[in-house]
Amino acid sequence: MAALRSPLPSGKLLRFLAKSPREQIAAIRINLNRTFKVGRQPGADAVLARHPWAAPAAVHSDLPFYIALRPDSDRNHKRYPELGALSTAWVHRNEASNATDLPRLYSLVLNIRQALEQEIAGDFAELGVYRGNSAAVLAHYARAAGRHLYLFDTFEGFDRRDLVAADGCRQPEFTDISLAAVREFVGEQNVRFIQGYFPASIPADLDQAHVWTARWVQGLICRN
Ligand SMILES: C[S@@+](CC[C@H](N)C(=O)[O-])C[C@H]1O[C@@H](n2cnc3c(N)ncnc32)[C@H](O)[C@@H]1O
Repeated sequence: MAALRSPLPSGKLLRFLAKSPREQIAAIRINLNRTFKVGRQPGADAVLARHPWAAPAAVHSDLPFYIALRPDSDRNHKRYPELGALSTAWVHRNEASNATDLPRLYSLVLNIRQALEQEIAGDFAELGVYRGNSAAVLAHYARAAGRHLYLFDTFEGFDRRDLVAADGCRQPEFTDISLAAVREFVGEQNVRFIQGYFPASIPADLDQAHVWTARWVQGLICRN
């Protein structure tokens, strides 16, 4: 059997696999922190791009896996030429969360493409935008397909009305954003930004004139 090509020496990989899930996550975070610390040094872009744990580099490289196995359709068959640029948007100002979460990017891309290939009619909407990482992915496909994208968020983080029961003692999260910053990052073309607390923030014209069809999770809703 051909030896499994790995970015890690096998002993190191085995030690990693022997850790508990909590320890594995801590180890991944330490590696990512090191990676992005390197990336912040002047002239270190090339080092960052080659690092096996750097998400955009992993997408462009021929490594067999990053943290989860990459779909054959990408690694072997190169079916998503747009994925490199989308992965850069995916981690923009959000490396700590999204560089560890390529499966979610793949899931989003595969689902959007499936909806478009099946010619499911309607515009796109995302409930919960934060810094616009998944919104930038949605916007790419909406523009390419001549559709619109509606982005719903307070753009000020979680509303205190939602911090109840087990969450009652928590402070609102995702407050380190602004509508202006997300608008600039995602871009205006084919995109409508709707600031407020949803579902109350859904404008009456959208709510009444269209049937919202929640076909799947993670942000994409088709409006027929
Ligand atoms: C996990 S973040 C979204 C991440 C984003 N989809 C991505 O993948 O890049 C959750 C967002 O939902 C927003 N949010 C949560 N509940 C909301 C509500 N009821 N109304 C408006 N915004 C809400 C928060 O402000 C926060 O920006």
